Amino acid sequence: MPSVYIKTYGCQMNERDSEAVAAQLVAKGYQLAKSEQQADVILLNTCSVRDQAEQKAFGKMNHLAVEVRRSRPNTVLGFMGCMAQSRGQDLIDKLPDVDLVLGTQKFHRAGDYLEQILSGERKQICDIEEEKGSESTIRDHISIGKTANQSVTSFVSIMQGCNQHCTFCIVPSTRGRERSRPIEEIVLECEKLVAAGIKEITLLGQIVTSYGKREIGMRDGKSAFVQLLEAVHEVKGLDRIRFTSPHPKGYGDDLIEAYGYLPKLCASAHIPVQSGSNRLLKLMHRGYTRERFLEIIEKLRRVNPNIGLTTDIIVAFPGETDEDFEDTMNLVREVQFDNAFVFKYSPRQDTPAAAMEEQIPQELNEARHAKLLGAVTEIGAERYEQFMGKTVRILVEGPSRRNPQRLQGRTTCNKIVVFEGNERHIGQLIDLKIYRVGSFTLYGDAAIVNLDQE
Ligand code: 5AD
Repeated sequence: MPSVYIKTYGCQMNERDSEAVAAQLVAKGYQLAKSEQQADVILLNTCSVRDQAEQKAFGKMNHLAVEVRRSRPNTVLGFMGCMAQSRGQDLIDKLPDVDLVLGTQKFHRAGDYLEQILSGERKQICDIEEEKGSESTIRDHISIGKTANQSVTSFVSIMQGCNQHCTFCIVPSTRGRERSRPIEEIVLECEKLVAAGIKEITLLGQIVTSYGKREIGMRDGKSAFVQLLEAVHEVKGLDRIRFTSPHPKGYGDDLIEAYGYLPKLCASAHIPVQSGSNRLLKLMHRGYTRERFLEIIEKLRRVNPNIGLTTDIIVAFPGETDEDFEDTMNLVREVQFDNAFVFKYSPRQDTPAAAMEEQIPQELNEARHAKLLGAVTEIGAERYEQFMGKTVRILVEGPSRRNPQRLQGRTTCNKIVVFEGNERHIGQLIDLKIYRVGSFTLYGDAAIVNLDQE
């Protein structure tokens, strides 16, 4: 059977989709190749959210077309995911070596299409159609199979698409309209994962706080998303629940209160604010004000003062004045996020913001990015410094990314902690005393309880 290598760009949803496609192909008998040099099929799972992400994947495919094709002409090359969806046939026209273009609603067809290409039945395939009949539920959802080796954390997709239509964002056109899976189906998948050794589940969607709005609706003053959290919380043997990404609009009191009564729900929230200027928030079509955002933060901290808070911010949105930018700087100083992803605005095809006048020159975009990132890093460092000498509890996930001799895990507040441990610790909740603070990383030693000598 052929071997496959999947390279993933972008968000956690893409990581999950890649894992699901890998599991689908493994079930058909494919091997997972360790590197692209050894693979019969190379798939790039792409991101469209900023131009840079698209350029990277495009450059990579161009390189593969030249290098891999020269030595191994029969290698199958494919694009899948968001860029496949937004560019479609255009990718094959520009890079004729590409055999497969697979849109975001067609991951479940990967195996069939590869078979047709490998057998020579079809030469090139581009399928970016909508999955028929999946307007209200995700018909094409594929579960992750047995490829998840010894991992203890897992993603579970709860919905697809986004109806918010922020003026800068390409996601509504790459991921389509909102469709949610039924609660029972999600719970069943969580139970299966826990039975296979998973301890922490991250519920995924482009706008999880809109989960089940139409399909399920409110009950007893609780949104469908909170009902889902409660249902997943019931899964026996599950230690932790996370979710991403929410929208501030969906942070109602029901969700805020859930942090207080659902102990498995991790004490962290990644809430994208995008800007601190009310004028820009309106132009971005975000649906909340700066004041409302600050109120959410205050309420969350009231429920748990130690909650970990992170955000996404875009600088140099069209028309952003010095004053607007200062509003964002102030907001960041006021909130004191643990970390923030700062993005340079990047015009996206067919989005309203791309057509707005007053696009910000590149140099100013870069200068604002550097300034904001500087503030975020400084504040983050101060907040991480406060963990020095403290004891924290982590779920041990596996080898540290930078130094595989060490292990790493995360606190409930989503801080990465690296420590000297043993493989048998993986999957355990353990307490560590922090002895060093690095850049957005904590270093800990096993916490030893000193019993008083008699
Ligand atoms: N330019 C820059 N950043 C963007 N994001 C989304 N669209 C754009 C864009 N056109 C950022 C937002 C979002 C994150 C995933 O990517 O901050 O929250």
